[in-house]
Amino acid sequence: MGRTIVVANQKGGVGKTTTSINLSASLASLGKKVLVIDMDPQGNTTSGLGVEKDEVENTVYELLLGEKTIQECLQPEIFENLSILPSNVNLAGAEIELVGVEGKEYLLKNALDEIKGDYDFVIIDCPPSLNTLTINSMCAGDTVLVPIQCEYYALEGLSQLMHTIDLVKDRLNPELEIEGVVFTMYDARTNLSLQVVENVKNNLNQRIYKTIIPRNVRLAEAPSYGMPITKYDPRSTGAEGYRLLAEEVIHRGEEE
Ligand SMILES: Nc1ncnc2c1ncn2[C@@H]1O[C@H](COP(=O)(O)OP(=O)(O)O)[C@@H](O)[C@H]1O
Ligand SMILES: [Mg+2]
Repeated sequence: MGRTIVVANQKGGVGKTTTSINLSASLASLGKKVLVIDMDPQGNTTSGLGVEKDEVENTVYELLLGEKTIQECLQPEIFENLSILPSNVNLAGAEIELVGVEGKEYLLKNALDEIKGDYDFVIIDCPPSLNTLTINSMCAGDTVLVPIQCEYYALEGLSQLMHTIDLVKDRLNPELEIEGVVFTMYDARTNLSLQVVENVKNNLNQRIYKTIIPRNVRLAEAPSYGMPITKYDPRSTGAEGYRLLAEEVIHRGEEE
């Protein structure tokens, strides 16, 4: 049975989307069947994988509002082994339109249950907030993966995120676990990155991935070409980082 990993942190700019795209693509290139779901109205995972977000008609929005089925919304095999459920700015309206809808927390989960069996991994990219879209993601997920940017305020907001995960686990999805935290944008030339890693390790009682994603300009460039790092520059340090992370994610699943 496949594993659904929710990439969440309500802080913006910590590497959620970069991790969603490149972890998905790296898992796919290791032969795993992967579905990536873009739950952020910014649609950066969608465009970063080469899907024209402003032209796509069937998206997470149509799915959540019950206008389309998940089969109608997903785009199979945009790269080998990698399918996507795209989104765009329309999704920003869902929060309001779903007010008062009964069971709205489970809309994504219910849809995903129909097709989950077709994939080894489902990776869900969350928006930078703890809203209905993030709650839907956490209800649909098995685990939460938290990217932490190696910068001074890394720990800020993390206790709120952990609290939200606990609440979802208590009330909505008792199966939910924390996958672990992964450090992103590590800059080996500065002491700050090292200090942040040490500080978080000492203060956060969570599983931490051994793989640390380096700061690498190729990772920042790739989305403008609509390509994951596995295609854009497979020899870059960024590609190496996400490949190692993918291997660790696979192994962690096998341990359990
Ligand atoms: N490892 C990295 N090296 C260099 N730039 C990165 C790296 N990870 C993310 N970025 C860049 O940092 C910015 C924020 O990353 P993003 O993945 O969009 O974060 P989030 O989805 O959490 O808002 C983007 O411009 C992205 O290209
Ligand atoms: Mg993002």
